[in-house]
Amino acid sequence: MKQKLRRSGARIMASLIVLLGSLSYIMILAVINGSAGFITAMGVTVFGATGVAKALGIMGLCAPVTLSWGWIIGLAVGCGVVRGGLRYLEQYSNHYIAFKLLAVLRDKIFAALRVLCPAKLESKQKGSIIAMLTSDIETLEVFYAHTISPICIAVLVSVAVFLFVGFVSSWYLALVALCGYIVIGIVVPVISSSRLKESGVNYRREFASFNSYFLDSIKGIKDIVINNAESERENEVNRRSDILLKETKRMKNGITRASAATELIVSLFIAAALVAGIVLVSADMLDLGAMIIGVVAIFGSFGPVLAVSALPGNLTQTFASGDRVLNLLQEKPAVTPVKGGKTFDYRQLDVDKLTFGYERNAPVLKEVCMHAKRGEIIGIVGESGCGKSTFLKLLLRFWEKDGGTIAYNGTDIDQINSDNLLDNVTMVSQTTYLFDESIEDNLRIAKPDATMEEIERACKMASVHDFIVSLPEGYKTQAGAMGDNLSAGEKQRIGLARAFLKGSELILLDEPTSNVDSINEGMILRSLAEQKSKKSIILVSHRESTMAIADRIYRVENGVMTEV
Ligand SMILES: Nc1ncnc2c1ncn2[C@@H]1O[C@H](COP(=O)(O)OP(=O)(O)OP(=O)(O)O)[C@@H](O)[C@H]1O
Ligand SMILES: [Mg+2]
Repeated sequence: MKQKLRRSGARIMASLIVLLGSLSYIMILAVINGSAGFITAMGVTVFGATGVAKALGIMGLCAPVTLSWGWIIGLAVGCGVVRGGLRYLEQYSNHYIAFKLLAVLRDKIFAALRVLCPAKLESKQKGSIIAMLTSDIETLEVFYAHTISPICIAVLVSVAVFLFVGFVSSWYLALVALCGYIVIGIVVPVISSSRLKESGVNYRREFASFNSYFLDSIKGIKDIVINNAESERENEVNRRSDILLKETKRMKNGITRASAATELIVSLFIAAALVAGIVLVSADMLDLGAMIIGVVAIFGSFGPVLAVSALPGNLTQTFASGDRVLNLLQEKPAVTPVKGGKTFDYRQLDVDKLTFGYERNAPVLKEVCMHAKRGEIIGIVGESGCGKSTFLKLLLRFWEKDGGTIAYNGTDIDQINSDNLLDNVTMVSQTTYLFDESIEDNLRIAKPDATMEEIERACKMASVHDFIVSLPEGYKTQAGAMGDNLSAGEKQRIGLARAFLKGSELILLDEPTSNVDSINEGMILRSLAEQKSKKSIILVSHRESTMAIADRIYRVENGVMTEV
């Protein structure tokens, strides 16, 4: 099973550079510093060679060098010193870009997830998103800091050395060097990248798939133990880890072979330059001193192209990572948030001929009609899987409807500002997620500036206040420390307290009492009934007892909703 990249390498690279945005000027600075730094480093050896040529000139073995000893030594030392400063600046700008970029990319991915959520995320594997947020982004950091600038530096330095050798020494020697740069910097990377591409993509895929499976297994460890399925899981983890190891080996093998070949080619070109120099001198076509300077310059000039030829191993992974990140960033959300739409204060809800299906031609809800007014408690009943939760999600516009209208105060939901909609309507879903923070903070996500009195009042209404104060640190108890120790009913009541605290006019309750005993259910229902004059509630439940407080009840059957 091969995974194909959706985009070509060049397109990925171009899109990634566009993502760089305003950081690109720092990148240019890094490239200039890097190129100048390399050229000054070469300056040290080139002026050394100039010294040798001068000495040979004095001995009458070659043409005399006009530059004085003072200048030669001064320039060699000067190049060394300046090189240090430039290297510092280059590293500084590269790392500045790298870390800034990590932050920018994480931010972009989170923003993309926020827009895709919750509709599209229901189908995405969480493990692969975690892999993206961690390893893929780090790979891209390497791309920006250690890929783009080496390529630019290699081009600039190679051109500079070519011209220098041509003018100072011989154009024949310069030509040998140019061939070397092209073979090492372009031909070798292109060949090895097409060879390494597949193994790089396969490696990344296995890595993401292994991570995803492993995380999933850890999350579901309780169910694994209950079903006595440890050995099967263990075997599967081993099997996948063996596959990952195989892919890793294959990729590393390829990289090692490519780098050995490159080193060999560099040595061959250095030898070629030396031979060409000797031939030119013996044919009296080049002065010995100029030959020494030219050949020494070429010897030291392969560094930048070598850096480029070492890229493909990383580059294929980078492309795979870049492709995945770009897929996410460019994924069309199932629901586009409405900005600058209409606002309202909930008085009335009219659903008319609402049709919706997760997949084409498989409607979950067909021409559903229902009405609710401020101050009413509406009950919705129906068999498991008939579409009750789906209906509530549509009322919050978590998915876009296929047809019909959902009108709040007469305005269709698609015209209402998304933020305003969530201010007016809130939902307690079937499962409540508690963050690894204190219970107080967990409640506060519904209303960050809530006073302690407001929080306690909401918890009393949800019949969970007494439980929270019985905990060792009361409202300050870490929900994470409690982990799975909180019962489903306790979590559910905290979810309910969040909804009360949020203070939205319309509260959608998806099985609010399914995990609660009858005493607590009675208390919650009493609070709900008390709220009736102030709040409107749409209540989904299987339980007859819960439905007792509803003013009107709708039943969903085969996608159709009828009032009973
Ligand atoms: N994200 C989704 N993608 C595709 N199908 C989905 C998705 N979510 C739910 N479904 C399907 O839509 C149908 C209705 O699901 P829904 O959760 O609305 O049922 P429900 O009435 O709330 O059931 P329950 O009483 O068990 O909570 C089910 O067949 C379910 O499998
Ligand atoms: Mg449901």
